[in-house]
Parts: sequence; C-alpha cells; structure tokens
Amino acid sequence: MPAATEPSPLEQLAARALEQVRDGMRLGLGSGRAASSFVRALGARVREGLRVRGVPTSEATGHLARELGVPLAGLDEGLLDLTVDGADEVDPRLDLIKGYGGALVRERIVAAASRRVVILVGREKLVPVLGSRGRLPVEVLPFAAPLTIRELADLGCRPALRLEAGQPCVTDN
Ligand code: A5P
Repeated sequence: MPAATEPSPLEQLAARALEQVRDGMRLGLGSGRAASSFVRALGARVREGLRVRGVPTSEATGHLARELGVPLAGLDEGLLDLTVDGADEVDPRLDLIKGYGGALVRERIVAAASRRVVILVGREKLVPVLGSRGRLPVEVLPFAAPLTIRELADLGCRPALRLEAGQPCVTDN
C-alpha cells in the first residue's frame, strides 16, 4: 500500500484554521497560497455536508471557491463570523503587511466586516520590523495615483508604481 503523504505546512495551517469553523458560519475567504489552502480544505468539508457561505477577497479566491463548491455570499447580512487569510509580514506586535499578491482593498474590507480574523503564516513571515521583506503595497484609483505618489513622498516614503510585464499592475478593483 502506498504511504500516506504528509500534509504540507500550508495544509497543516489550513487544518488548524478549519477547527474554528462551525456549521452555518459566514466566512471571509482571503487571498494567496495560505488562504487558498484553507479554501481547499473548506471545500472538502462542504462536500461532506458542512453548510457555510464565503465572501471572497479576490476574483481568484472566488473562482477557486466556486470550483470547489463553496457557496458564495456578499456583505449584505451583517458581520461575518470569521475570516481566514494570509499575510506577507508579521511584526512582534502582530501588526501585518498584506497585499504582496495584489489583493489589498477587499481583504481589508472583509477583515473589517468580520468578528474574528485568523491569519495563516509560516515562520518566514515573522519580521522584527514591518518592511523587512519587501515594499508596503498601497492600492489606489488610477485617477488618484499621481496625488497619492506625491503625498507618500511628502511623508518621506519612496513610492514607485508597481509594474507587471512593464505595465502598471491593475487590481481586481
Ligand atoms: C494578497 O494580496 C495578500 O495579502 C496575501 O494574503 C498575502 O500576500 C499572503 O499570501 P501567501 O499566503 O501566498 O504568502
């Protein structure tokens, strides 16, 4: 008989988060690898009969959830019970940088609309000071980009437009 494969670190994190989920909950579904691992674990439980609804924080997560049969909802029914998401940096005070994956605004809205937020990270995300692993992502309307860039520079930051294949990165929003 083939040996059972060890769950990956992300699958182990997802399984721990799944312990917090109860039947009937409305859940915020984060974006990125750790959050996707949770959505996959949740999908397996939904196929076994768990009844939940999820509010995705990105088009990619919405697509994954639909593929896995996790029913989706909007923010029209009051606070969500729980949101499960990832993060890019976590400092000793548990402040976070999120958004390296490009899903920023909806993640914050869904977190703000949740009674509890569980953040799934590996040790590599723990930093002494935020900004240690990369740049702070800021999502802007194209209309406001020149103004935001100037105002961030006035604050002493070194703003730069994020590029993808040489073009300004465009988010889901
Ligand atoms: C999405 O833009 C991000 O905020 C993610 O939640 C964050 O980047 C963590 O992603 P990973 O789990 O893929 O590292």
